[in-house]
Amino acid sequence: MSIVISPSILACDFLNLEKEIEKLNRIEGIWLHLDVMDGHFVPNLTFGHEIIHSVCKQSINPCDVHLMVNNPEFYIDSLKEMNIHNITWHLENNCDHLKMIKKAKQSFKSVGISIKPSTPVVDIPDEILSKIDLILVMSVEPGFGGQSFMNSSLEKLEQLRKIKKENNYNFVIQVDGGISDNNSKDVIDHGAENLVAGSYIFKGSEAYAKKVEKLSS
Ligand code: DX5
Ligand code: ZN
Repeated sequence: MSIVISPSILACDFLNLEKEIEKLNRIEGIWLHLDVMDGHFVPNLTFGHEIIHSVCKQSINPCDVHLMVNNPEFYIDSLKEMNIHNITWHLENNCDHLKMIKKAKQSFKSVGISIKPSTPVVDIPDEILSKIDLILVMSVEPGFGGQSFMNSSLEKLEQLRKIKKENNYNFVIQVDGGISDNNSKDVIDHGAENLVAGSYIFKGSEAYAKKVEKLSS
């Protein structure tokens, strides 16, 4: 199983967004993670449709939209024409997840559900696990980049790997928050297949490709 790295542009240089996307376009096999925050589901506010559209149009790599919003259905409807590969919203959203998964699958190749650090794996219903393409385990409290990795996520990754194997499910196990070369091996060893990383990739002087390589090896 090959590991996919998803640089989170939340930590990129927004004054040079186009150049940042171009640099990422030179790296093969990655996804581009876009954190959409509405200032309600989480206290922080990031970017909306215009920026998502521009980034996804410019990106050669698959775009991965992580919705941290109160009304994910609005985004599923309004982002469907954009070049988005995966769209993820939170299990903690009060909505009819099964209905939304069905709807989202008509417009996006991959559909994901995320759980916050306080939500246990057992809260994800089997009907979701059997239909979903990706499960995102948050390893920080969603809302801000640059936070410290929470070790409690390791057990959740392990649980998901076990459930996936036992039931022959197809979902990709993604982890997001505080990922660096200090913990990438640990999360992979516990079952993570897709690693989201913001600060680690974009801060510092080392080339992005080198950082991606360090996380996946
Ligand atoms: C946090 C976001 C993350 C964030 C990760 O709410 O979902 O994707 O950008 O940033 P780092 O890697 O800096 O923790
Ligand atoms: Zn994210």
